[in-house]
Amino acid sequence: MKCVDDFRLQFGKQELVPIIIGGMGVDISTAELALEAARLGGIGHISDAMLPTVSDRRYETHFIKEKLKQYKYNIDNSDKSLVKFDLGHIAEATRLHVSKTMEAKRGEGMIFINCMEKLTMNAPRETLRVRLRTALDAGIDGITLSAGLHLGSFALMEDHPRFRDARLGIIVSSLRALQLFLRKTAKLNRLPDFIVVEGPLAGGHLGFDMDWAKYDLHTIMAEIYQYLQSEKLNIPLIAAGGIFTGSDAVSFLENGAAAVQVATRFTAVHECGLPEKVIQEYIKATEDDIEVNTVSPTGYPMRMLKNSPAIGSGIRPGCESYGYLLDGSGHCAYIEAYNREVAAHPKAKKISVKEKTCLCTHMRNFNCWTCGHYTYRLKDTTRRLPDGSYQILSAEHVFRDYQFSVDQKIALPD
Ligand SMILES: Cc1cc2nc3c(=O)[nH]c(=O)nc-3n(C[C@H](O)[C@H](O)[C@H](O)COP(=O)(O)O)c2cc1C
Repeated sequence: MKCVDDFRLQFGKQELVPIIIGGMGVDISTAELALEAARLGGIGHISDAMLPTVSDRRYETHFIKEKLKQYKYNIDNSDKSLVKFDLGHIAEATRLHVSKTMEAKRGEGMIFINCMEKLTMNAPRETLRVRLRTALDAGIDGITLSAGLHLGSFALMEDHPRFRDARLGIIVSSLRALQLFLRKTAKLNRLPDFIVVEGPLAGGHLGFDMDWAKYDLHTIMAEIYQYLQSEKLNIPLIAAGGIFTGSDAVSFLENGAAAVQVATRFTAVHECGLPEKVIQEYIKATEDDIEVNTVSPTGYPMRMLKNSPAIGSGIRPGCESYGYLLDGSGHCAYIEAYNREVAAHPKAKKISVKEKTCLCTHMRNFNCWTCGHYTYRLKDTTRRLPDGSYQILSAEHVFRDYQFSVDQKIALPD
């Protein structure tokens, strides 16, 4: 019976354990978590979501305070078009986070950064360009383009000296999305180095509509695998979404996947960025506690715990501090939903906004508990402690369990 360790992900001459810990914003896939994956010979992701605030928390910078000072006058204004990011601050935050992580890297594995196109930051092209290029400057091993079609992203890096040596890949959820991307990149004579195929059971935003349950990762993987074969394109395919055990991973590795990308099981480990109290919420969740909803202002469905404090919260939009989801003209679906609610209840001291949530503020404060479909199985991966709480695991324990387990077994901690 095979285990994940019988397979290797080949990148040029480099051989890796075919386990990738997926990007989890905002700083849930921390540097510490990514570094463990790299130390153990796999690939870990840091996330480029909201790096100025992540940098403030980690490296004692003051980007948010400075932005708020500059735009404080606009807090009560529903027009956010003037609230702009300082590109120098974004570059500095990215440089700090990436270079400090890369300096700490040990072992044979790699560290990638997850870069979401949907973080449009009130100037989509300019801000994305800075994020991508600075990550390359700061020595990241690779970039995973996510949450969006990324039809222009490769072109933003085209003249960067590392454009052809860094590992650049994309997350897609359908063959059609991949074909669009490949058509665009063909013009630059630069194919992606890897393709993550993310199915409907993943955490975070989904690349599906609310009919996500009709789709299945094995089927999408097979379709994309056949397409690449027929086009004679030799690009590693990475399966993601709902791969909960080593045996689940093997079932993909035996059918054309070069690696698997996993995340949910790593939300129960010390190295992830979630506060310990929130980790307990994830581990104790039951199947009924998890939903896919439409409260994210990005327009993509998102999976989360129903008891996330973000759901229904009516806080004032935090764009002057954050504003990562503002489109190029200062709009965010939360601002509109919030203003409608305020207009409907002019005398209310506190309002509740059901339709959308202020994702920036709530992700930043770990109040939006996004999770994968199988989060309800986390309790089977650990032990219950005498006080009723669950033992939090180490990233190494979970990584090794994926790497060596067979027969659908899950190793419990000592
Ligand atoms: C808590 C959490 C946050 C996530 N955040 C992101 C993100 O910011 N960007 C992204 O591309 N994917 C995100 N994902 C998706 C993962 O990177 C990964 O592809 C997917 O969840 C793998 O499926 P699994 O969780 O069932 O193992 C997130 C997943 C989780 C569980």
